[in-house]
Amino acid sequence: MFSAHGPSLRELCVQAMTSVERGYDLLAPTFDHTPFRTPQRMLTATTEALTGLGPFHTALDVCTGTGAGLSVLSAVCDGPITGVDFSTGMLARAHSAHPAATLVRADARALPFNGGFDLAVSFGALGHFLPAERPALFEGVHRALNPGGLFAFAIGTPPPILHPAHWVMLGFDTVMRVRNAVWRPPFVMYYRTTPPRALRDDLAAAGFAVDTKPLPSFGSYPDGTPRCLLILARKS
Ligand SMILES: C[S@@+](CC[C@H](N)C(=O)[O-])C[C@H]1O[C@@H](n2cnc3c(N)ncnc32)[C@H](O)[C@@H]1O
Repeated sequence: MFSAHGPSLRELCVQAMTSVERGYDLLAPTFDHTPFRTPQRMLTATTEALTGLGPFHTALDVCTGTGAGLSVLSAVCDGPITGVDFSTGMLARAHSAHPAATLVRADARALPFNGGFDLAVSFGALGHFLPAERPALFEGVHRALNPGGLFAFAIGTPPPILHPAHWVMLGFDTVMRVRNAVWRPPFVMYYRTTPPRALRDDLAAAGFAVDTKPLPSFGSYPDGTPRCLLILARKS
């Protein structure tokens, strides 16, 4: 659908009618040829924003998929890096791309780590968690970090109501809500469930001190709001 090497529309529809885990297992061979993989531009902007916030020795990429975030970790850390995801298909691809990284199969809502990481990142996965699931996710990341450790992730800010992106996201979320109301297993993926204020509140409740940094290379909306923010959540 997206390129000669990407999935066909039919394959995408089949994947979307399964669970998130099974859907990504099916999508894994072609995932890197879809827009769902975090683009290099975002990885570069995040790497630049994290440079100087360390030092980071050990680091974790939560919902690593095929390992997009592992390249950021290799650039900003001087020690071992780990990726965690619950899709075996995606982890197999991450292993091919990053043979030196440790890869762990686990549900991010019950992360199996107790300290050991100076930095955690996550890319492109927050929409897979219902707001009610975020406390477990954030508490797990908080537990995985060493004291003083940083959890960093980029988010798009909500577009103004008159911007076309607002209506595209609203349309996508509506289709997914209808799909999930009539079909089992659910495929949780929503764009409009992660407003910065709610994320800040959930991170603070999990014990983080939260700051944000605009990613200037993504520009701003006409009202001056940056399109993209890096959330920096520090474990005190
Ligand atoms: C859109 S992909 C993003 C992959 C990669 N981080 C990137 O930016 O290209 C979302 C990833 O989140 C993983 N994922 C979703 N829910 C998860 C959960 N509850 N536990 C672990 N992994 C999960 C999926 O398996 C998938 O690999």
